[in-house]
Amino acid sequence: MENIDLKVAIGAAQKGKEVIESFRKKRLNIREKGHHDLVTDADIAAEKAILSKIRETFPDDQILAEESANYDRMSDERTWIVDPIDGTTNFAHDFPVYCVSVALWENKRPRVGVVIEVNRNELFTAVQGEGAWLNGVPIRVADTEKIRDGFVATGFPYNDLSLVDPYLKLFKILMGDLQGMRRPGAASFDLCCVACGRFDGFFEYALHIWDVAAAALIIREAGGIVTDWNGGDGWPFGQRIIAGNSTIHSYLLEQIRDVIPDKQRENVIGEDAES
Ligand code: IPD
Ligand code: CA
Ligand code: CA
Repeated sequence: MENIDLKVAIGAAQKGKEVIESFRKKRLNIREKGHHDLVTDADIAAEKAILSKIRETFPDDQILAEESANYDRMSDERTWIVDPIDGTTNFAHDFPVYCVSVALWENKRPRVGVVIEVNRNELFTAVQGEGAWLNGVPIRVADTEKIRDGFVATGFPYNDLSLVDPYLKLFKILMGDLQGMRRPGAASFDLCCVACGRFDGFFEYALHIWDVAAAALIIREAGGIVTDWNGGDGWPFGQRIIAGNSTIHSYLLEQIRDVIPDKQRENVIGEDAES
């Protein structure tokens, strides 16, 4: 049976991708909306196109979208969570890792998740309880069992540098233990790469719900684990996330618990908390 929510999410994300691509040949207007936090004309135009596509079918649903963020709109009702370009800094530098992310959220959890990596034209999708797919083919997290085989992604926050000292300590340990670490620059893509087994794990802080909502469902439906930095369920709004297959998730959680002080591991319930 056709899932209309998934169909709309895919259609909206594809529309966003088209708009982003149409900006590639144009001179970009790039501004800083916060310290090191960029926004371009393409972010605004893609978001407008994605939202109007969703509203064509679901005019009464709520929407929480990064560039027009209205936190009052987050409730238990059906809410579309949109990041029009995840990886704007990459996009602004013509570095080819950036995505459109669209999730349908209801009763405190993601029901549908769609992430498109624009350059590779990779479509990651998931429906709660039904599985996860890459370009229509089912995906699973990697079965990596040895830490020394682990290939892990992370991200560096733009403006919250409060954890840099323990982060550097953590990096030193992980660099010694793991096969490799990467920072591709689009959290939704990092998470989707965990879902399809390219990466074994991922961790980051200072992320918002639009960065993670769709891709976290995609990982879970691909058999992976997603938690906050204390192993709990605060990742959507808590700005701290660990994801991975079970071995690498446990390893990352243990290292983070060892190195990051208790207070700094706590979820930050900030501006994008549920109302
Ligand atoms: C950013 C990307 C990046 C992460 C940042 C996010 P944006 O999203 O996901 O990988 O490190 O924290 O804000 O701003 O490009 O949508
Ligand atoms: Ca983002
Ligand atoms: Ca964005």
